[in-house]
Amino acid sequence: MDKALTLIADNIGRIDDYPKPGIIFRDITPLLAHAEAFAACIDVLAQRYREQGITQVCGIEARGFIFASALAYRIGAGFVPLRKPGKLPRQTYSRQYALEYGDDELQVHRDALTTADKVVVIDDLLATGGTALAAAQLVQDCGAQLQELAFIITLNDLPGVSKLAQAGLPSYTLCRF
Ligand code: PRP
Ligand code: HPA
Repeated sequence: MDKALTLIADNIGRIDDYPKPGIIFRDITPLLAHAEAFAACIDVLAQRYREQGITQVCGIEARGFIFASALAYRIGAGFVPLRKPGKLPRQTYSRQYALEYGDDELQVHRDALTTADKVVVIDDLLATGGTALAAAQLVQDCGAQLQELAFIITLNDLPGVSKLAQAGLPSYTLCRF
């Protein structure tokens, strides 16, 4: 397990001053391109969730989709996309959240989850927590049971973990920077 987590962390790129001066950007593209490291992400998550009766894995657009769909396949659950506005064709629930500049929104099909579902939400990265909180609210809007939110990366200097904890939402991460 420790070896897997080290392999994952070692394959996350660091780009200083992107997208603007002073920001350290954590880049998952080297991780995705490294077959063993990418597999390790899915293996560790699958080990955690396969015995928990998860019926649906929700992925947050866009980078969350990559990990969530692989995990869903691996644990024999369905995959539900949480999408940016205007992408889903049927009736949706919507939640807005604050970005550094302005707002964004996530949507889910109203009938994508039911009260019978036990759900894990997956994204690549937890920063301020606005995106993850909106995702959790969408799962709850559908009446489903949210087991946990899981991330490949959590940024320690930003308030995401405390924001989720304050809302009573359990979270799990593979790496912290
Ligand atoms: C990034 C990242 C998370 C979110 C985290 O997504 O993939 O979804 O930001 O930020 P927060 O914790 O401050 O809300 P982005 O909105 O850049 O979308 P993308 O995955 O489509 O690139
Ligand atoms: N990497 C990728 N996405 C992000 C980051 C980051 O460091 N911070 C906020 N979104």
